Amino acid sequence: MSCTVKIAPSILSADMAHLARDLDRIAGADYIHFDVMDGHFTGNLTFGADILRAVKRVSDVPCDVHMMVTDPDHMADWFLDAGADIVTVHWEASTHLNRTLAHIRERGAEAGVVLNPATPVSLLEAVIEDVDMVLLMSVNPGFGGQRFISGTLAKIRELRAMCTRHGVSPKIEVDGGISRKNVAEVVSAGADVIVAGSAVFGAEDPAAEVEVLRELGSAAARGDVRA
Ligand code: DX5
Ligand code: ZN
Repeated sequence: MSCTVKIAPSILSADMAHLARDLDRIAGADYIHFDVMDGHFTGNLTFGADILRAVKRVSDVPCDVHMMVTDPDHMADWFLDAGADIVTVHWEASTHLNRTLAHIRERGAEAGVVLNPATPVSLLEAVIEDVDMVLLMSVNPGFGGQRFISGTLAKIRELRAMCTRHGVSPKIEVDGGISRKNVAEVVSAGADVIVAGSAVFGAEDPAAEVEVLRELGSAAARGDVRA
């Protein structure tokens, strides 16, 4: 695992009336986490590809597009066309996962697969060698500000072990309920990309909060403590 943990603020928690200002506040982040929800896969509806295009016009931070939609196989291209740097699709929603992952890579972006909290890591055996990222949900997708599901820690460790067995090292991203209080244990379990929505945009100084999360996470990674 790299010793520098990467921080991906979720703009789901940004102020949409002041999006450019909030993007400026997270200019020091490693990724912009862009939560796409279609009102079907989750009980919420967020942004489409035109908003991603707008984000790309004002920020140089790579965009990590998390597709919480019922038809990611079809919709991934919309976000690739708009400049997505990473596209992650839910295992639960993709009918042709292998083909979609290959397509995302062919189009020059990084491809990732996402698991909901109740979906077992073992289901990734068939694709683990074909992904650039695995995103483990630590809340049920739909809304920011939910509580971290502690069983995720065991899933992160299981995923790390699977990657070692296969001799691969995709990024391991964890999403939901992460703040300065628990970032160290999430990293110690084996995560190297941390999504944080309310923890960053709810902070008085979002830019400083990104640094705090990265420092706490990186210290845990350097200690190489497995929770
Ligand atoms: C949940 C989203 C998350 C969420 C994280 O469906 O995928 O990215 O915005 O928000 P916090 O960090 O507030 O739990
Ligand atoms: Zn997300």
